Amino acid sequence: MSKIFAHRGFSGKYPENTMLAFEKAVEIGVDGIEMDVHLTKDNELVIIHDENIKRTCNGEGLVRDMTLEELKAFDASATFTGVYGVNPIPTLREYFELVKDTDIITNIELKTGIFEYPTIEKRVIDMIYEYGLQDKIILSSFNHFTVKRCEEIAPEIKRGFLCESWLINYGKYTAEQNVQCCHPIFCNLSKEVVDEMHGAGCEINTWTVNEYEDIERLAALGVDALIGNFPDRMIEKLR
Ligand code: G3P
Ligand code: MG
Repeated sequence: MSKIFAHRGFSGKYPENTMLAFEKAVEIGVDGIEMDVHLTKDNELVIIHDENIKRTCNGEGLVRDMTLEELKAFDASATFTGVYGVNPIPTLREYFELVKDTDIITNIELKTGIFEYPTIEKRVIDMIYEYGLQDKIILSSFNHFTVKRCEEIAPEIKRGFLCESWLINYGKYTAEQNVQCCHPIFCNLSKEVVDEMHGAGCEINTWTVNEYEDIERLAALGVDALIGNFPDRMIEKLR
């Protein structure tokens, strides 16, 4: 049975990557939550998708150019403006406080594709250990150097390589790098690709699976986790 992960929290119905979206995902009983992490000017770990706050907040500017206090002044509800009141950008710590006593699996995507945020891997891993969550985490990134840095710091924490291309031998490449999970975009998952990844011993956690027909097709292919904006639809179809 494929696991059900909420992408940026329950982002189909609530402002993405906010505590509200995470709380609602927990409430409906997801297996896991995916989120995106950046580093502020004063080295705080915050949960937001883009480098610039413009798309999701009522302001603009780079996360890395602002302190946490400055970032907290914005409302991160722009994907649902005016519907759910004010929802600030959460810190990773606030999120961990929410899930620390649950069985929720957390997929932390390190957003180091444009800015590398030196030290982000160490800061994330230190906080994971502070909360004792190391067995309930998957660290992933499109920047595979970031994933390898995570391995150097904490080889025991599960890792995933994100990729949006139709790679040949994605599973073999992943396994050879001592990484346990492939995190491909869902539309690249033919049976041949799924079989190659599983044949290499990899777990497959795919995104962003929103439509009923995709949920059914990917679950039937035996994909390990479906990461989507509408975890309610996945629960309806798969449980
Ligand atoms: O981690 C899966 C997925 O979130 C990767 O793409 O752009 O939604 O962060 P993106
Ligand atoms: Mg993401």
